[in-house]
Amino acid sequence: MKLIGPFSQIIPLTGLPLKGALQDAQLSVIEDGGVVTHEGKIVAVGDYNELRNEYSHALPVLIYGPAVLLPGFIDCHTHICFDGNRNRDYAMRIAGKTYLEIARAGGGIWDSVMKTRAADIETLRINTAERANRHLLEGVTTIEVKSGYGLSVAEEIKMLQAIRHAGEYTKATLIPTCLAAHMMPKDYTGTDYLQDVVENLLPVINCKRVDIFIEETAFSAEAALPYLLKAKELGFSLTVHADQFSSGGSAVAIAAGACSADHLEASDAADIARLAAADIVSVVLPGASLGLGMHYAPARKLLDAGACVAIASDWNPGSAPMGDLLLQAAVMSAAEKLSTAEVLAGLTFRAARALQLTNAGQLAAGFVADMQVYPTNDYRDLLYYQGKMKPSQVWKGGEKI
Ligand code: NIG
Ligand code: FE
Repeated sequence: MKLIGPFSQIIPLTGLPLKGALQDAQLSVIEDGGVVTHEGKIVAVGDYNELRNEYSHALPVLIYGPAVLLPGFIDCHTHICFDGNRNRDYAMRIAGKTYLEIARAGGGIWDSVMKTRAADIETLRINTAERANRHLLEGVTTIEVKSGYGLSVAEEIKMLQAIRHAGEYTKATLIPTCLAAHMMPKDYTGTDYLQDVVENLLPVINCKRVDIFIEETAFSAEAALPYLLKAKELGFSLTVHADQFSSGGSAVAIAAGACSADHLEASDAADIARLAAADIVSVVLPGASLGLGMHYAPARKLLDAGACVAIASDWNPGSAPMGDLLLQAAVMSAAEKLSTAEVLAGLTFRAARALQLTNAGQLAAGFVADMQVYPTNDYRDLLYYQGKMKPSQVWKGGEKI
């Protein structure tokens, strides 16, 4: 058993509503706090001196100087399993070329499919673990990772295996998601790709989540709903790339009973009202808006309508190559007028909800001891410095990284 502290502030993110707007005054802030951990879990959080009396037998781990303790961040939407990059796409995009012009020049998702298919499983394993470890050092202790650059039964299996293997080379928790429905594979010669995925891929993969990209350039709402319902029948949890460029996907996500609808840049008033009323997490992805040079998802409107809003990086080689979750959340918060409480909730317990994790994203007894320490005595500095302040310590399952 360890007693870690004293911390200038502990922000446990407990006792807050799952949905809707939050004000900073709702955050509980424990001054001069401590945390007791045992076998990877949190045993107690509270006043440091009181814990020292109560847990006098615990091994003291002293923290010196200003320090703010938070739960580890949860990045509930990434595509960090890939090879190569798309810097040519990016240069064309910032020079004013359109999506179609970039695709005609050989760019877009299919370019990453070609590069990822050409990589062996070991290369993909190393790439994924390296990116996960970079995230971990920046305080991200749980990371969802999608396939979706394989787009054939064999290549999707390869990606999902690489993600599983990567989990053995990082202390971050990796949660795989099958995104075989990322786009229609250009080399597909059968008659019904999604049916093939349902019959030949989903039954054999070691993964519990399924995602689909609903968009004119990917899959229609009409094709997506039966696919999602079949995946659900097979026991998968669902998530959807929805309303990125046009509205339509989030309604399908809700109809299918998905855990989350992600992107939402193009969600209209009716979509926002539906998302707020449903039991679904609205995941906004500021990194994709930054990478594509487009407006942010309407996070403010979603929160005011009563939605559960999580913030994720979408880290991928095309639209979101940066992969700095806190920086992206901080930049979005200034534009969208999100409170610090809303941002921290979106990076922790609300993101945990998108992944159906019931013991992560808060500092409370029984939760995993996934924690990060910032070298300041005021939690507001995280957004004030716009993500430039990085954690001085990260703890995963009660162990210091
Ligand atoms: O979430 N929107 C679709 N998929 C990714 C982009 C992937 C890529 O461009 O390689 C996204 O932004
Ligand atoms: Fe994505």
